[in-house]
Amino acid sequence: MIFGVETSCDETAVAILKGKDQLLSNLVYSQIDVHKIFGGVVPEVAARKHVEVLYKLSLKAFEEAQITPNDIDAVSVSFGPGLIGALLIGVSFAKGISLSLGKPLIGVNHLMGHIYANFLEFPKLKPPFVTLLVSGGHTAILLVKDYLDFEIIGETRDDAAGEAFDKVARILDLGYPGGPVIDEISKKAQKLYDFPRPLYNKGYDFSFSGLKTSVLYFVRDYPEAKKEDIAASFQEAIIDTLVYKVTKFAIKENIKDIVIAGGVAANSLLREKLNTFKDKLNIYYPRQSLCTDNAAMICRAGYEKYIRNMFDTLDLDVVPNLGL
Ligand code: KG4
Ligand code: ZN
Repeated sequence: MIFGVETSCDETAVAILKGKDQLLSNLVYSQIDVHKIFGGVVPEVAARKHVEVLYKLSLKAFEEAQITPNDIDAVSVSFGPGLIGALLIGVSFAKGISLSLGKPLIGVNHLMGHIYANFLEFPKLKPPFVTLLVSGGHTAILLVKDYLDFEIIGETRDDAAGEAFDKVARILDLGYPGGPVIDEISKKAQKLYDFPRPLYNKGYDFSFSGLKTSVLYFVRDYPEAKKEDIAASFQEAIIDTLVYKVTKFAIKENIKDIVIAGGVAANSLLREKLNTFKDKLNIYYPRQSLCTDNAAMICRAGYEKYIRNMFDTLDLDVVPNLGL
């Protein structure tokens, strides 16, 4: 029984996982409304909100799971990447639980957690597979050779996909977070404009900063263009690039399973385009609530470490720029 804690950004989340895939509780307190007024996440505000919410949310999780804190076998927590102050709250809290109850502490890489969300959704899924990791801070194509053995095939050289969605939404004055809004308004819009697809035919790396800048110049030069159509055209360019590269790699390597992870995995056009490969490839993506930040995925990643006796000590430190 693993108790998981996730506070890397603007979601306070706790979960309790029994065995490999029995979720007894999975609670997320989203701070979006608090940060919306600022147009983005304010790190100090996020950390303070975690302090306020984490303890009460944990009590609720134990209540929902109908167990006591003493029933858990370990506590797993995201220790990076993320906002330093926000991460510190979760890690300190997890250390307190570990120390007071004498239960092992397991530090989890938040990015790995996103991939592990898929093992919760698809208990029969097994490596090897190809992963497209698309979150607010990261974009990468990975070859997952085994549960804890990942090879990076390509990464973004500048902005992450989610970051590009958020920045373009800001340029278009659509609010924060940008991904869901762009996704929604694009459904009723026309893809009228041809925005660049940087590095399209050049290996497996990505670059989205130029795409974002070209949207910025377009808005300046064509003030009469409809926001919806600009958003839809931008979305088409970014999703087309992601889908092209990940499917190309999987087909070249003759790997049938593609697993999508991270907040942008919730994007409906991404899902629609990937589904057109269904006769050649198996596409896996978790339900919406497991795509965005949650602690269930931190429990599931913690489980793999638990069964391998991979524990941390109370020296565990946060690593805001932790890579894959
Ligand atoms: O994985 P995540 O919840 O947090 C990080 O670890 O970064 O990802 C958040 C990102 C945000 O940039 C948000 O705009 C994007 O995921 N996102 C979406 C959608 N839902 C969330 N992007 C595109 N379409 C969506 N439907
Ligand atoms: Zn995340």
